[in-house]
Amino acid sequence: MADTITITDNRTGKQYELKVTDGTIRALDLRQIKTSDDDFGLMSYDPAFMNTASCRSAITLIDGDKGILRYRGYPIEQLAESSNFLEVAWLLLRGELPTAAQYADWTHQITHHTYVHEYLKRAMDGFQHDAHAMGKLTAFLATLSTFYPKSKAVRDPKVREEHIVKIIAKMPTIAAWCFRHSVGRPYVYPDNSLSYCGNFINMLFNIGQPRFDPDPILERALDVLFILHADHEQNCSANAARAVGSAETDPYCSLAAASAALYGPLHGGANEAVLRMLGQIGDIKNVPAFIDSCKGGSGRLMGFGHRVYKNYDPRAKIIKELAHKVFAVTGKNPALEIALELEKIALNDDYFVKRKLYPNVDFYSGLIYQAMGFPVEMFPVLFAIPRAAGWLAQWQEMLADNDQKIARPRQIYTGSDIRDFVAIDKRGA
Ligand code: SDX
Repeated sequence: MADTITITDNRTGKQYELKVTDGTIRALDLRQIKTSDDDFGLMSYDPAFMNTASCRSAITLIDGDKGILRYRGYPIEQLAESSNFLEVAWLLLRGELPTAAQYADWTHQITHHTYVHEYLKRAMDGFQHDAHAMGKLTAFLATLSTFYPKSKAVRDPKVREEHIVKIIAKMPTIAAWCFRHSVGRPYVYPDNSLSYCGNFINMLFNIGQPRFDPDPILERALDVLFILHADHEQNCSANAARAVGSAETDPYCSLAAASAALYGPLHGGANEAVLRMLGQIGDIKNVPAFIDSCKGGSGRLMGFGHRVYKNYDPRAKIIKELAHKVFAVTGKNPALEIALELEKIALNDDYFVKRKLYPNVDFYSGLIYQAMGFPVEMFPVLFAIPRAAGWLAQWQEMLADNDQKIARPRQIYTGSDIRDFVAIDKRGA
């Protein structure tokens, strides 16, 4: 049986045989289907890319029906159990788990690039004290682009590697600056004796202590959360990083675009929206009425639903278990009861079941962040830190893919036909 499909154009009676590769046809193969020689040829129309593969990728696999998530073939459950974020970042970027020597060198490189130039504190201090942390992070990533103009040489592997290290290393420092700026506390310098997550906690919460020892349970919980958020194939923000990067934009501005996409409440901003929703519900007795309001179309159950997962998001399962470990240290987040009641009712309600709406990665993560002392505006920033590794892996894969070129979709034109200019005194009311 040939790996082709035959299309009959009923407008002309002509038949076309199109090759099927990896379950897809090349959209360009549709262009041969014409009704006349001057016909542009067929295109596919796919708003929001509901059924379009934009690339070939070896980084992450999601099986939405089975609730499977793998980074470079490794199940997320095993990585969350046995790995750490820096090791996973290496895996995403290079395709293999690092050897002990590679891991030691990688950790040394990242640890020794955590400082951000003192001059850039003026950029952070230029924001209003109550500027949203994601707005600051997004702007700051673009600002770093002006600080590292040589990063524009995106076709040079050595330049890419240098700035991949800088970005992964500096994300926690920038994120900590965003938080400390919002609460009017002085910035804390990185402590190279601490782990990636331990140093981040230190830069966030150290108040004048010469030696800061992060709670090991919270340090590990953050590491697991970073692993779970590191990549998720062609999500909205990865698509933004690829699209902007396809113009050969430097990695800082490509990630600023990705950060802007992640900021949206339908994407990475959902973890913040979940906590605001739980606060709005206020009490477990209000849950049924809130669910009814969602079903009535007055709003969405934030943290529920997913474009790909039509089953429980495997990350949500792990985060839900992790919450109990964190609460043992921080004290239980009272909003947990409301979240659990929301989940219990929604998973048995036909509106959600029929639409295959399950808790996603954002439903429980915010409860942990809030219990750890983060303000809600920081939640999407905590998503962006680890996702920078995924964005960089996707960006790098795009640049190395000979199939790729500058992203420039077509359109169906629905505007006016040609018409002549009308002087302002001749225009109607
Ligand atoms: C992330 O893509 C990724 O991989 C993203 C991510 C990653 O790691 O990068 O996983 C991270 O962004 C997770 C998603 C976080 N967002 C939210 O929790 C916001 C709430 N969820 C939704 O808005 C929605 O579910 C999306 C955006 C996540 C997915 O939207 P789709 O696939 O475009 O689905 P849709 O909007 O077309 O909804 C289909 C139906 C609609 O109802 P009908 O028109 O059929 O009547 O389901 C309904 C929607 O109204 N629906 C919801 C709902 N989500 C979808 N109804 C109530 N509550 C919800 N949360």
